[in-house]
Amino acid sequence: MDRWLNSLEETARQALAVPLFRYLSQGARDGTTASEAHAAWAEFRLLPHVLRDVTEIDTRTTVLGTELTCPVAVAPTTLQRAVHPDGELAMARATAATGSLVVVSSNAGTPFADIGATGADWWLQVYLSADRTLSEPLLASAVAAGAKALVLTVDTPVVGTKYDGAGPTVWETTDPAILRVNAEPDLSEAPGAEKATDLGPHDIGWLAETTGLPVVVKGVLRPDDARRCVQAGAAGIWVSNHGGRQLDRSVSTAAALAPVAEAVGSEAEVYVDGGVRSGLDVVTALSLGARAVFLGRLPLYALVGGESAVQRMLTDLQDELVDALRLSGCRHLGDTRGLAVRGPLTGL
Ligand code: FNR
Repeated sequence: MDRWLNSLEETARQALAVPLFRYLSQGARDGTTASEAHAAWAEFRLLPHVLRDVTEIDTRTTVLGTELTCPVAVAPTTLQRAVHPDGELAMARATAATGSLVVVSSNAGTPFADIGATGADWWLQVYLSADRTLSEPLLASAVAAGAKALVLTVDTPVVGTKYDGAGPTVWETTDPAILRVNAEPDLSEAPGAEKATDLGPHDIGWLAETTGLPVVVKGVLRPDDARRCVQAGAAGIWVSNHGGRQLDRSVSTAAALAPVAEAVGSEAEVYVDGGVRSGLDVVTALSLGARAVFLGRLPLYALVGGESAVQRMLTDLQDELVDALRLSGCRHLGDTRGLAVRGPLTGL
């Protein structure tokens, strides 16, 4: 039996133009963090329970009050309409069909109103501009289209350097009409439109007040930063290194998760992304303190096959999670606490 999920990256590599696939898959600088992300989850081993009734497995949870059938959701990524003409719409419909949730990039190529009209549960990811007020029209249109939360990405004061080698870059080959369509009016050339390099905890409160929505902070790796976010009113802490696309050599999210979750306690929800590719990765993340995990590249690679392929990807992952939970003696997600132990060969 072959694992279909394993074929998605290679299928995408073959189907997509070279600059586009390179953009999706690449990491910053030497690609060290990007290449370590998945292996870091397999640094853990699982200590399963036995003699427990695992006839019925319950994978349901909530994120900021929204019900999910399974604690797996879709992270924000750009260029979805370059991967497939249906882009964000396919992603939203697939998450709606599977009872998941999608986070929409502020650079999305689909109007927020169209995403909202799919009926999907969605959050908006934002980068704030140096002049915060220039972000307000985008925020207002997301609120109007039914975004349920805001995800403030804080690991990108500047875009991490990536090496493209020979040939055109993705930006030279992509139709600008499928980028940032929600920036209305287009203020990208206005003074102060560049990404803010002075983000601080006060921006969390500002965002919450401006929109009336809960704010999740994405890109936290340190417990002390997580505490600052919680004290500033963050509803969620999202452990992420941006898929290894920002600071190369930053620690894996698998390593960063447990200390952050411990520092946050029950004061906010904790999520994680980065290299999650299987049900075993998900169960490990849950055990280390994540309430839900997010996927970046996996749904992008699946999107090559459109909505049905994204749906299958999410369903397969859920099936793998059920299998991992059953074999671990866990009926509910909360039973996973203490399941993951560090070090493949070190025992206890
Ligand atoms: C991203 N990511 C990202 N994050 C964000 O906050 N806003 C964005 O617009 C994007 N865009 C984006 C494009 C592409 C092509 C990739 C691969 C990633 C980061 C993303 O949300 C997530 O943190 C990582 O992708 C998670 O790692 P995996 O699942 O890709 O290993």
